[in-house]
Amino acid sequence: MATLFKNIKELIQVRTEPVTFLSGKNMKILPTIKNAFLVVEDGLITDFGKMGGCPNLDFSEVIDATGKMILPTWCDSHTHIVYAGNRENEFVDKINGLTYQEIANNGGGILNSAKRLQETSEDDLYQQSKVRLEEVVALGTGAVEIKSGYGLTVEAELKMLRVIKRLKENYAIPIKATFLGAHAIPNEYKNNKEGYLDLLIDKMMPLVAKNHLADYVDVFCEEGYFSVEDTKRILQAGKTYGLQPKIHVNQFTSIGGVQAGVKHHALSVDHLEEMGKDDIESLQNTKTMPVGLPGCSFFLGIPYTPARQLIDAGLPFALATDYNPGSSPSGNMNFVVSTACIKMKLTPEEAINAATINGAYAMGLENTVGSITKGKRANLILTKSINSYGCIPYAFGNHQIETVFINGEKL
Ligand code: NIG
Ligand code: FE
Repeated sequence: MATLFKNIKELIQVRTEPVTFLSGKNMKILPTIKNAFLVVEDGLITDFGKMGGCPNLDFSEVIDATGKMILPTWCDSHTHIVYAGNRENEFVDKINGLTYQEIANNGGGILNSAKRLQETSEDDLYQQSKVRLEEVVALGTGAVEIKSGYGLTVEAELKMLRVIKRLKENYAIPIKATFLGAHAIPNEYKNNKEGYLDLLIDKMMPLVAKNHLADYVDVFCEEGYFSVEDTKRILQAGKTYGLQPKIHVNQFTSIGGVQAGVKHHALSVDHLEEMGKDDIESLQNTKTMPVGLPGCSFFLGIPYTPARQLIDAGLPFALATDYNPGSSPSGNMNFVVSTACIKMKLTPEEAINAATINGAYAMGLENTVGSITKGKRANLILTKSINSYGCIPYAFGNHQIETVFINGEKL
């Protein structure tokens, strides 16, 4: 079962030598092959090159890509797509001038979503979540991380993680699960945060680990949520269960969360809208990926992550959607890539690198997806007829996708 894609106008993100992630000046380089072919066998990329060297074999399918381009599917390393209902009522409060924090203080926010999720059956939650997963795959996402964090009780957190597990089992794209029990402090623990931390560490985490329900641990390290000390305690506990950190830091305030993440070998530190010089310095020469979420900045009207500054300081940078009901109700990576160019001043090359190979690294999938490399999964975007790959971020609010292929299969 081999498929040939021939006459590809430009094959994008070609990496003959495997790359772990790209940083600094290397992010400006996006290797491509013009007038290319690509062979897919048993769901994997097995060959590619210039059309001149195209093999003349008996392929089971031949796809003529004249005028069109092929790139690896987007790697969305930060989402909250398992949730119940949505929060469009808060959207209007926000239009009327309330801030994210004011909405949360008025009984909205994460606790509002948690109440809804606790009242929703596991099957209903799965049905609602799979619609979002299918929606993002159709928009070109071929690998995704999904967090818990709208449960906030032992039972509801496990319910969310079981839903993620069921999505993993039923869908062909790689999915990573993150335990985010430390997303907000439930009302019952308003005056007893330590009690909630004990519950999270002594009850939730052992069950999450025992049932193999998570790959990573996350904390919303922020004023009014979890302090740096709380974060360290949770990350330390996570370590004993083999859960590497991927954490929410510096969304509204810079309080030392980045440093705590680096110290605990976080795979990624995400949000970073508020970055001081020392935050940037602490990320230098580490293996921690800074992740920007421009959809969240766009929706909440908060600053954008200073990605230009991070990359110019020699750091790597990844892009993700943060798809969730409160701060980024969109899982459209095409929009994220455009917004990174328009608002964060990334070049198309940098934005595509950030949304593919660096996103793959931010969920431990750099050997599986994120580039056109032999042996990687054939999770591919076939574009419409376009002039150049610059059209992908340029035509914001639209996308240039004609067909998405997952493991070489047309969606
Ligand atoms: O990444 N900031 C923390 N968590 C989510 C928002 C959650 C919500 O508002 O429902 C985020 O922005
Ligand atoms: Fe988030």
